[in-house]
Amino acid sequence: MELKVSIVDVCQAKADTIILPLCEGHRKLDGEAAALNDKLNGAILQVIRRSVFEGKAGQTLCLHTLGLIGAKSVLLTGIGSKENLTENNYRKAAACAARQLPGLKSRTAIFVHCERDMEKTTAVEAAAEGLVMGSYEFSIKRDMEEPKLKSVTFVATKEERDAVRAAARRGNTKGGATNLARDLANAVPAQMNPETLSLKARAIAEERGLTFTCYEQQEIQQMGMGALDAVGRGSDIPPRLLVIEYRGAGKDVTPIGLVGKGVTFDSGGLSLKTAEGMEAMKGDMSGAAAVLAAMDAIAQLELRANVTAIVPTVENLPSSKAYKPGDIVTAKNGKTIEVLNTDAEGRLILADALCHASDLGLSPVIDLATLTGACSIAVGPFCTGLFGNNSALIQEVLATSEATGELMWHLPCAERPEFKELIKGKFSDIKNTGGRAGGAITAAWFLHHFIEGTPWCHLDIASTMISDSDKDYTSKGMTGVGARTCIEFVERRQVCAPPVAVEPESGAGSGEE
Ligand code: BES
Ligand code: MN
Ligand code: ZN
Repeated sequence: MELKVSIVDVCQAKADTIILPLCEGHRKLDGEAAALNDKLNGAILQVIRRSVFEGKAGQTLCLHTLGLIGAKSVLLTGIGSKENLTENNYRKAAACAARQLPGLKSRTAIFVHCERDMEKTTAVEAAAEGLVMGSYEFSIKRDMEEPKLKSVTFVATKEERDAVRAAARRGNTKGGATNLARDLANAVPAQMNPETLSLKARAIAEERGLTFTCYEQQEIQQMGMGALDAVGRGSDIPPRLLVIEYRGAGKDVTPIGLVGKGVTFDSGGLSLKTAEGMEAMKGDMSGAAAVLAAMDAIAQLELRANVTAIVPTVENLPSSKAYKPGDIVTAKNGKTIEVLNTDAEGRLILADALCHASDLGLSPVIDLATLTGACSIAVGPFCTGLFGNNSALIQEVLATSEATGELMWHLPCAERPEFKELIKGKFSDIKNTGGRAGGAITAAWFLHHFIEGTPWCHLDIASTMISDSDKDYTSKGMTGVGARTCIEFVERRQVCAPPVAVEPESGAGSGEE
């Protein structure tokens, strides 16, 4: 889908559909909405007054225009109450509209923003994100249909045009990042393994001019990453550690670390999962998918920050070479880990990745991982579990997620010493499981042993990685969760001025502070 910005008269413009998002409780309309209403002989206000269209979140209503205006239909889409006129509700309204367009046989649409309580650029960015995510579809069917929606045009005045164009581009890139994460995570396990994931990551890095390093198994062993090496041993396709660097700020700016769990398929290993438990495990690299997609977008947006992504990737399979319950492995920081359950593999590969993040001096470090089924039990299916060792960082990530609409709930971790006992090892420093109770918290506490002093935040996306239905901007299958929160986090952390590209001329007063 192409997003355009144009100076048009909405009443005359030729298009299949005009998308008009509205809040609840409109008694009158203004601007373009009023003009449309007039040309349609009052039809918009009539359906509002008769409560046929109330503007509730998720509600849409199509009015056919019968030649009264240039467009064939006007699609009203509800945002919800005026008090709840948030970016996320606007994003959802746009996505709900996008979901209606194929049924209306619309291939071209014009998007009209008329809720004056929201800044136009804010609205356009949110709308672009919603439209892009709401039109996503993953399908491998014999009769692939051609893309249904060709273009959406945002209306702007001459003065607004550049700002609106930039906003549409930001939204398109952010929504596109979620869709890329979905594509990576939805890819079938026969096609997505540590090797192919590395190739994808390399392709992204090359396209965006990022520094890319892929550490192979031998290097993983030489670097002392005994935990990652152990988990990767069961598969014929060896493990890898991927490092991608984006530098959008000066050398003196500490890079932010993004770490993503990249288990391309989690069978549980020798502690084999049940058939039912294995169904969704192609999505066990959703953390990696989100991090890679975020890097792709961060580079496209040229954010003024430095970011390093680390992705440990393995296939967790049983075989005669596989690591076994009872094995004791040594992580990069020298800590020994007793393996009680080979299905608690995510924390093992993340242990070495977090050590590496800390050795590279990254700060803060945010990891995203489909880590524990226990997290779904704790926070429910629509919420990501958030853990950390630094309250300011925790608040910052929570505020960011509030804006992106990727719901998160803070659970205790490093601040509660009671959890220490639960994963203390008998023969080793720690063990890789701490029992059923508080499983998401003991997993987070396990990770803390490998990052310690660095400000760190762990996002357990086990419950939010997948959705069983299409709903506003969420799509059935893998959700691509986390990508937008990572991008937004980096965007909000940008250094004030762009990096100085030109050296000051010699002799010209360099007294500026
Ligand atoms: N990848 C799973 C967690 C998971 C479960 C993600 C369901 C998404 C949906 C993880 O590797 C795992 O198997 N965790 C175990 C840990 C247990 C053995 C301590 C779990 O949650 O059962
Ligand atoms: Mn597992
Ligand atoms: Zn797993």
